[in-house]
Amino acid sequence: MSNLPTVLIIGCGSIGERHLRNFKETGRCQVIGCDNRPAILADMAEKYQVETSADWKQAMENPACNAVVICTPAPSHVSIATEVLKAGSHCLIEKPLSLNLDGMDELTAAHQASDRVCHVAYVNHSRHEPRAAKAFLDSGAFGPVRAASTVGGQHFPTFRPAYREIYYTDHAQGGGAIQDAMTHMVNLMEWITGPTASLFCEADHQVLSGVEVEDTVSIIARSQDGAIISYNLNQFQSPNEVTVQFNCEKGSVKFEYHNCRWGHLAHGAEDWTWESVEPLGRDGPFSVQANDFLDATEGKATPLATLEEGVQAVRFNLACFESIRTGSRITIK
Ligand SMILES: NC(=O)c1ccc[n+]([C@@H]2O[C@H](COP(=O)([O-])OP(=O)(O)OC[C@H]3O[C@@H](n4cnc5c(N)ncnc54)[C@H](O)[C@@H]3O)[C@@H](O)[C@H]2O)c1
Repeated sequence: MSNLPTVLIIGCGSIGERHLRNFKETGRCQVIGCDNRPAILADMAEKYQVETSADWKQAMENPACNAVVICTPAPSHVSIATEVLKAGSHCLIEKPLSLNLDGMDELTAAHQASDRVCHVAYVNHSRHEPRAAKAFLDSGAFGPVRAASTVGGQHFPTFRPAYREIYYTDHAQGGGAIQDAMTHMVNLMEWITGPTASLFCEADHQVLSGVEVEDTVSIIARSQDGAIISYNLNQFQSPNEVTVQFNCEKGSVKFEYHNCRWGHLAHGAEDWTWESVEPLGRDGPFSVQANDFLDATEGKATPLATLEEGVQAVRFNLACFESIRTGSRITIK
C-alpha cells in the first residue's frame, strides 16, 4: 500500500485524460479515473493502469482520496464542487466555473467553511511567460498598467477535431468561443490587471463549419483600476498564436506563447529586451498545474486561479452575452 494521497479525476474525456496522465506522472499521488461512460473507463485503465470508478461519490469514500479534479462539462461543475468541498476534499475545477451564477453563494460558503483548497483550472497561471511578465509588472518598475491588449487564435478543427460532437456546439453546455476559449484570456488578463468594471462585446459565427456558435470575439473593457483593455480572438485562423501586451507610463511588457518569450521595453530604450522560456509542449503547462495543485493541498502558496477569479470570469461571460444581446456597454456588478 502506498502512502501517497489519491486524486480523483471526475470526467475522463479530453481534458480529464490529460489531467489524469499529468497527475499520475507527478509521481506524487495515486490517481482514480471516473467517468459515466464505461468505454472511457476501460480505456483509462488499459492506457494508464489506474483504478477506475463509474460513480464519483462512491470513489470519494476511499479514505486516501483527498483531492478531486472536476473535468465534466461546465453545467455540473458547481454542484459537484460544492459536494466535494462539503465532503472534505480539495478541489480543482475546470473552466468555465459555470454558465450562470446559480449556486455560487453555496459553493463559496462551502469553500469558506472547509479547510480545503479550491482552484479553477485556468492553465495560463501555469505557463512561464505570464508568470514572468506578471512578476515584472508587480515589481512596479514601469508603474501600473494603463492599457493592454490580447490578440490570439488557433485553427480549432486542428486542435479539437471533434468540436462538432462535443459541448462546444451549445452555449447551454459551455460552448462557443466566449465561454470555451476567450475565458482563458479574460482570466489571464484579470489575474494581472485586476477585475473588469465594464465591457462592450462583438462576437459572431464567422467560419467554423458544422456549428452555429460564435467563433470570433472582440471585447473592449475597462478594469476597475481604469486600464483600457482589448481582447481579440478567433478559432479559425491558421497560426496558433497568442500575444499579450501591457502598456504602462514608464514602459511596455509583452509575451508571445508562439515564440516562448516575454519582453520589456522601457521608454527611451531602443528595442525590446527578450527573455526566452523553456518550451513546454501541449502537456507541459498541465504538468506544472498538477504540481501546483498538489503543492496547494500541502499548504504551499501557488499562483493557481482562485474560486473568486472563477466567479468573476463567469460574470464577465454573462456581461459579454448581455452586451451582444443589447448592443450596449455593460457594467459588471
Ligand atoms: N483547460 C483547458 O485547456 C480545457 C480544455 C478542454 C476542455 N476544458 C474544460 O473541461 C471541461 C470538460 O471538457 P472536455 O473537452 O474534456 O469534455 P468531454 O466531453 O471530452 O469530457 C467530459 C467527460 O465527462 C464525463 N462525465 C459527464 N458527467 C459525468 C459524471 N456525472 N460523472 C462522471 N463522468 C461524467 C463524460 O462522459 C465525458 O467523458 C469543460 O468545462 C471544458 O470547458 C478545459
